[in-house]
Amino acid sequence: MLDVFKTSKNRNEKKEIVLDKDNIPKHVAIIMDGNGRWAKKRKLPRTVGHKAGVETIRRVIKEAHILGIKFLTLYAFSTENWKRPDDEVSALMKLLVEYLRSELAELNRNGVVIKILGDITKLPIDAQKEVLNAIEITKNNTGVVLNIAFNYGGRDEIIRAVKLISKEVEDGNISVSDINEGLLEKYLYTSNIPDPDLIIRPSGEQRISNFLLWQCAYSEFWYSNVCWPDFKEEHLRKAIYDYQHRDRRYGGV
Ligand code: FPP
Repeated sequence: MLDVFKTSKNRNEKKEIVLDKDNIPKHVAIIMDGNGRWAKKRKLPRTVGHKAGVETIRRVIKEAHILGIKFLTLYAFSTENWKRPDDEVSALMKLLVEYLRSELAELNRNGVVIKILGDITKLPIDAQKEVLNAIEITKNNTGVVLNIAFNYGGRDEIIRAVKLISKEVEDGNISVSDINEGLLEKYLYTSNIPDPDLIIRPSGEQRISNFLLWQCAYSEFWYSNVCWPDFKEEHLRKAIYDYQHRDRRYGGV
């Protein structure tokens, strides 16, 4: 057993939750939702909500390290998020740059490997540079693999893979009969990354929003009503506790 932590409904009643250290999900993926609503409730601009969301990212990465989660994927910007007002899109690009500039040294010290899922060629040049630099600097680390899904869409990822495979067929490198699940996975952004065991979505929404569509085939889902800026270590632990009490059958009995 890994640890004991206490949650309380009221001060007098504490409930102990014990996590099984032998059944920590290897890959946890999170849809970081609710920044806008968090800000609106406080009569603040949406971008302040995204900034507050970055604080949660810091907490969650540290906790993932403590718990022994090997892969952590954070959905930060979807292929559909370009539809948001220009100032919000720019603020999100800026936050990515600021985050990498301010956190890279510490992430690197802690052995974090940074990967990006998504098409970064559409990002502003400074963001592309920061991202490539972070990937390069952390590539030989052996700690938590942090996948930042940025300009990521599940459908886009599958279409990209299909195009790349079609090109291989066209060039005569493979034949149609070589195409199977294993081959397709090699052409996804998540090549060499195991499928997520657990997908978390805070903020009360219960949909997948074009996130890891191929990879979520057998993922467990966990929802919470708290908005992402209010998401704390204890929510991650509760999600894992619930995950550990599910029966994963992968289509078997
Ligand atoms: C969804 O909440 C959140 C996003 C689209 C952006 C998430 C980005 C960050 C937390 C920070 C930037 C990323 C990095 C890696 C530094 P929403 O705005 O849709 O919330 P709402 O549904 O309440 O409006």
